[in-house]
Amino acid sequence: MPDRRLTPDHTVPSPHRLAFGGDYNPEQWPESVWQEDVRLMREAGVTLVSVGIFSWALLEPSPGSYDFGWLDRVLDLLHENGIRVDLGTPTAAPPAWFYRAHPDALPVTREGVRYAFGSRAAICHSHPAYRAAAARITEQLARRYGGHPALALWHVHNEYGVPVSACYCDGCAAHFRRWLQTRYTSVEAVNEAWGTAFWSQRYASFDEIDPPRLTPTVGNPAQQLDYRRFADATMRENFVHERDILHALAPGAPVTTNFMTALSQCDSVDYWAWGREVDLVTNDHYLITDGRRTHVNLAMAADLTRSVAGGAPWLLLEHSPSGVNWQPRNPAKRPGEMARNSLAHVARGSEGAMFFQWRQSRRGAEKFHSSMVPHAGTDSRVWREVVALGADVGALAEIRGTRTVPDVAMVWDWQSWWAQSLEWRPSQDLDARERADAFYASLYDRHLTVDFAHPEADLSAYPLVVVPALYLATEAAGRNLRAYVENGGTLVVSCFSGIVDEHDAVHPGPYPGALRDVLGLTVEEWSPLLPGETVRLSGPGGAELGGDVWTEFVVPRGAETVWTYADGPAAGGPAVTRHRLGRGTAWYVSTRLDAEALAPVIDAACADAAIEPRSDLPTDVEVVRRSGENGAYLFALNHTDRDAKVPLERSGTELLGGERAAGHLTVPAGAVRVVRLDAE
Ligand code: GLA
Ligand code: ZN
Repeated sequence: MPDRRLTPDHTVPSPHRLAFGGDYNPEQWPESVWQEDVRLMREAGVTLVSVGIFSWALLEPSPGSYDFGWLDRVLDLLHENGIRVDLGTPTAAPPAWFYRAHPDALPVTREGVRYAFGSRAAICHSHPAYRAAAARITEQLARRYGGHPALALWHVHNEYGVPVSACYCDGCAAHFRRWLQTRYTSVEAVNEAWGTAFWSQRYASFDEIDPPRLTPTVGNPAQQLDYRRFADATMRENFVHERDILHALAPGAPVTTNFMTALSQCDSVDYWAWGREVDLVTNDHYLITDGRRTHVNLAMAADLTRSVAGGAPWLLLEHSPSGVNWQPRNPAKRPGEMARNSLAHVARGSEGAMFFQWRQSRRGAEKFHSSMVPHAGTDSRVWREVVALGADVGALAEIRGTRTVPDVAMVWDWQSWWAQSLEWRPSQDLDARERADAFYASLYDRHLTVDFAHPEADLSAYPLVVVPALYLATEAAGRNLRAYVENGGTLVVSCFSGIVDEHDAVHPGPYPGALRDVLGLTVEEWSPLLPGETVRLSGPGGAELGGDVWTEFVVPRGAETVWTYADGPAAGGPAVTRHRLGRGTAWYVSTRLDAEALAPVIDAACADAAIEPRSDLPTDVEVVRRSGENGAYLFALNHTDRDAKVPLERSGTELLGGERAAGHLTVPAGAVRVVRLDAE
């Protein structure tokens, strides 16, 4: 398919403004409320709203009969008020009539339980009737609204992969067999890839293969891994199907579907593949309030989103004005937190800030989810902060099209995460996502902006690349990382990486097969620790560090030992090593170090990479840059409760307040400042 990614100038829904607004569900309200909605939208500086995402049953009340009158009036009203529309295809929530006619389009769990109608996203993505019905309503919308002046963006479906990541019905079984046939051609190739000589799992024909349904003990890991690929590819096929209808019938507006890149929120979608299929990458992000620093998780999701967009501008399509409603406990955001969240996404490449949702529902499952217009009405903190944020977003219009400037890269692969998450690994406590979070936090605390990269991507632009969890590494990935180091890069690899190939088969020879050469070592054996057990590491100048969860018996084969296990199963052996290779350096960390314990290793690697420490910036004061034709911009976000000083390398103009800034920028506690730096 041709690359339809539009030029930066066209990717943004509104030509001259950043996007500000939210999901708008006017069908939940009498029309008399709509007038107040648009008046308040204007007051808040709303430029874009997402409409119709869950409206299928109202737009097509019975099969093939349509009621577009209300949506016509909504779009006209928004257009009259200068508000543009991100128009949903409502295909994430088929109506009751659809399921009456096609009960087998309801998805089946791995345990064999069929879901029922009455919520949303109950879809078997292999079902031909679903695909046909989705195509019909998409065609209707494309024909009717493709030329509407309010239309800025098409919003296909909603958050593919959540909450149902895969269906295990008989229809999916047949579809899976077809998918395998295309991928492997012969059943012998499947037997080879899946290692079916094990436990008598050999197949004589494709007909004998089923989805990896519930089994008495562990199912074939390669089959499970392929099923995740299949489920992801099937959802993507359905996206592409709708997208192509929109491209053909309504080519004026770019097509997106809202991602959920945060690793804590969606684990079933390979966003590297999806990023290539959308015209504009958009993302939904919600804070998980589990006691950790939420702004670090937010920054990571924003960096991931920008990376799946290939560094191009993207759009935050949903976040919450205050608390959500789906956690066990849902704290309200603190004063100023909403603006910091929004502008942190903007700093990291979003072309605006959108929310779920505009007006808080009175009925339904989400009535206790915060909204821009809360139950409390407009005489409320949330509304006042929404209006103030609208003005701030309005003042940043000139940053459109500029790109976030990265410092370092982190290798991340959803497929490797899927593989590592399967059963019967040496330790259930070594968790890929936890490793990514910890390495990210360590880089965040050094004030380094992180690009994420696929293991086979070109890494040559980055002085430092960290690999927190790459259990599954293809030979191509191994060669890529090796070439990166040989050509002068600095690499840091964490334990249990480079172990298996794309079929979850262990690379031949000692561990870590795909990364032995670049790391200059082999691992003879690993020895995970029990809960509560720790190991001490001793390093340069008698320094000490503590690790837990995992240890290894490392045999250096060219690498030097920098930190040694002082106790534990591998006492006296190498714990952290450094390998000079070509013009670069590869570090290896063979135990689990938390973000704080990683500090000396990351510092030493930064020194190898000639990255200057940013010790002049206080902890939790986030400084990120965007730059492009319009200029260079410095975002400073103070997540602490004390005023902070941020040094400026050049003078400039602060865009939210309009003042000149030189030497130092004062960022009050909890506040955000954005400086357009003067031209050099
Ligand atoms: C998701 C969905 C929205 C809404 C929000 C609530 O992101 O896309 O429709 O349910 O969650 O947080
Ligand atoms: Zn199915």
